[in-house]
Amino acid sequence: MIKSAVVPVAGHGTRLLPATKSQPKEMLPVARKPIVQYVVEELVANGIEQVLFITGRNKTSIENHFDHDPELTRALNESNKKELLEELDFKGYNDTKFFYTRQRMQKGLGDAILCGENFAGEMPFLVALGDSILGLNADSKTVANMAELFVSKRASCVIAVEEVPHAETRHYGIVRPEGKTGDSFRVVDLVEKPDSKDAPSNLAIAGRYIFSPLIFDMIRRVKPDKRGEIQVTDAIRLLCEEGKRVLAVKLPPGEKRYDIGNFPSYFETFVEFALADPVYGEKFRAVLHDILGQSKSK
Ligand code: UTP
Repeated sequence: MIKSAVVPVAGHGTRLLPATKSQPKEMLPVARKPIVQYVVEELVANGIEQVLFITGRNKTSIENHFDHDPELTRALNESNKKELLEELDFKGYNDTKFFYTRQRMQKGLGDAILCGENFAGEMPFLVALGDSILGLNADSKTVANMAELFVSKRASCVIAVEEVPHAETRHYGIVRPEGKTGDSFRVVDLVEKPDSKDAPSNLAIAGRYIFSPLIFDMIRRVKPDKRGEIQVTDAIRLLCEEGKRVLAVKLPPGEKRYDIGNFPSYFETFVEFALADPVYGEKFRAVLHDILGQSKSK
């Protein structure tokens, strides 16, 4: 099974400026938690035991977030706020090992993953984008399904994919399936941000990948794109070209990938998660209803 995950969080997050000028986008809150906490909770619930964050400058708040804070613990204990202390822990948190390394220059996702080479060693590993949540409240089991498929089919790579509207393929990395697609299928090529008329499908890469260590050699062979970035999709293409088994798993019906990398999607995610909050959701729904009623009558 897959026990190790690499979580790249080193990007500049320019699409979320000025919010990300001095804080990582992965630490922006969605309802009551920072985005990256949902990611880690999902991974732990899917059997991951150790996580390597690929960080950069301005990202130390991520390390602090997953560290014990004795002063805060003491203050909460002394002021009898034990329920808040419990909120700081999540299931499996204390058993998870966290590692950190820096990507010195932000040269793209492929380059970020390469920073995990020593951590992965000879074992297959998961890559989970630090700015993408799977499922409402990160309740996805997709990574466990991917891991099962990776092992049973002796794959070199398994990618999570989601259906997107045909008109929007230009925003995503799109896979070319071999023949008809079921819940899982073989991928023969990938195209980065194709126009809808050129898109080989409407199935977009959804921020979770399992790789054999073979991927590192492929990444090293990839040439930088016109923005100077090493793209992991190009490395996966090389796996396809070499005839390696690259498979995809579709997110199950009703499961969404929440990509927090741009404002429209971040706003949508925040509202959806806040509405689903067990404590504050109902009240928020009423407030939202009023706000929408007022804006309609203007
Ligand atoms: P994005 O493709 O959203 O890039 O990264 P970005 O640089 O963060 O954002 P923009 O385009 O400037 O707005 C997807 C994930 O990969 C990480 C990011 O931190 C994010 O979690 N990443 C990206 C790296 O770790 N290193 C990179 O060089 C690029």
